[in-house]
Amino acid sequence: MQSFVYANPTKLYYGEDQLSKLGEECRRLGSRVLLVYGGGSILRNGVHDAVTKELRTAGAEVFELSGVEPNPRIATVHRGAELCRTHRIDWVLAVGGGSVIDCAKAIAAAAKYDGDFWDVVTKKAAVKEALPLGTVLTHAATGSEMNSGSVISNLEVQEKHGWGSPLVYPAFSILVPSFTASVPLDQTVYGIVDMMSHVFEQYFHHDPNTPVQDGFCESILRAIVETAPKLAKDLGNLEYRGTIMYCGTMALNNLLSMGVRGDWANHDMEHAVSAVYDIPHGGGLAILFPHWMDVASAKHPEKFAQLGVNVFGLESSESGRTVQEAAQAAIAEVRRFWSSLGAPTHLSDYGIDDSKLELMADKVTANGPRGRFLSLSKEDVLDIYKRAL
Ligand code: NZQ
Ligand code: ZN
Repeated sequence: MQSFVYANPTKLYYGEDQLSKLGEECRRLGSRVLLVYGGGSILRNGVHDAVTKELRTAGAEVFELSGVEPNPRIATVHRGAELCRTHRIDWVLAVGGGSVIDCAKAIAAAAKYDGDFWDVVTKKAAVKEALPLGTVLTHAATGSEMNSGSVISNLEVQEKHGWGSPLVYPAFSILVPSFTASVPLDQTVYGIVDMMSHVFEQYFHHDPNTPVQDGFCESILRAIVETAPKLAKDLGNLEYRGTIMYCGTMALNNLLSMGVRGDWANHDMEHAVSAVYDIPHGGGLAILFPHWMDVASAKHPEKFAQLGVNVFGLESSESGRTVQEAAQAAIAEVRRFWSSLGAPTHLSDYGIDDSKLELMADKVTANGPRGRFLSLSKEDVLDIYKRAL
């Protein structure tokens, strides 16, 4: 286990009655609020009404930025920052999924930053100050509601990058399972693939003596494997929605990364694909991750075999199978599980051919090989993209 410091300042409210805490938070953070949301789902499912009612009861003056895109754009960040300055906003409230929250984080920091915020996203500059931020989550996927990361796209240059700062941890996040009940099946599945991928990125590491961390990962994965098929058939079931929501938050809020150095190459490879083709993040991961697993398990099969036994209930490798066979059986389970939910399996499902694989592989390895469980050169990344076609 590596040395680590654990500090997560986000106050989490979970439960059907927890939107009532919004007023209290609003009185604490200030009366001038920028409400940030996406393409209109919160107008249709009543969440916008419920949120603005709480804010107004608390005496807030509410300004709005709507239309945040899935894979949020830097231009939208700049628009939001301008609104903050013009209206002397005290704090930013994101109501939506990961894209809205990521955009709101960037807006909160860009409001206090002189210059082009793309320089921060591309790590040429650092954030020194940010407005406070709160979130009301409407889609279980990224964990952005309880972490300090944000992913922003610039389609003009076909780039998509993650950046982060302790200054943009949400001060609070409110998780009401019924607010996710209107998420359609395809997006629900993308979210499930994304949260499982976050666990995988942290589960596959080479640090010794991590039984607690492994157990946290396996427990989240087991809960997802148990719940997701039932949720896919019963999208309005709030118990299933609640379990999946909790899994998504716990999968990427620093809990699983204590004392381990995760891999994260699959996220880099997916971000390059969605930078060029603007596809849903979870869809891209569903396509790429199993191929990475094939390659990684050829060198390091043990953890895959452990995944098969502890998550998918396969027989242990001691009962006749080699560890390599056990690893392959576990990867087959991951493929079967995602396919059974209807996740995409090939880049061609999104109309992606081989014309830009080289460009994407260059983006992934622009600063050298990627991945800590398995170091990938540009050629290795190209190989995985080709397998995924
Ligand atoms: O825009 P609206 O109308 O809200 O519709 C959204 C969007 O079309 C819809 N949706 C959300 N809540 C809904 C709903 N539809 C009906 N009912 C509801 N209650 O779902 C669609 C997808 O939303 P989006 O926010 O884009 O999805 P997600 O949460 O998966 O976020 C994806 C973004 O997060 C980044 C991804 O790269 C991508 O840009 N990530 C952020 C991370 C982080 N900050 O920690 C980590 C992740 O690995 C990821 O990279
Ligand atoms: Zn992700």
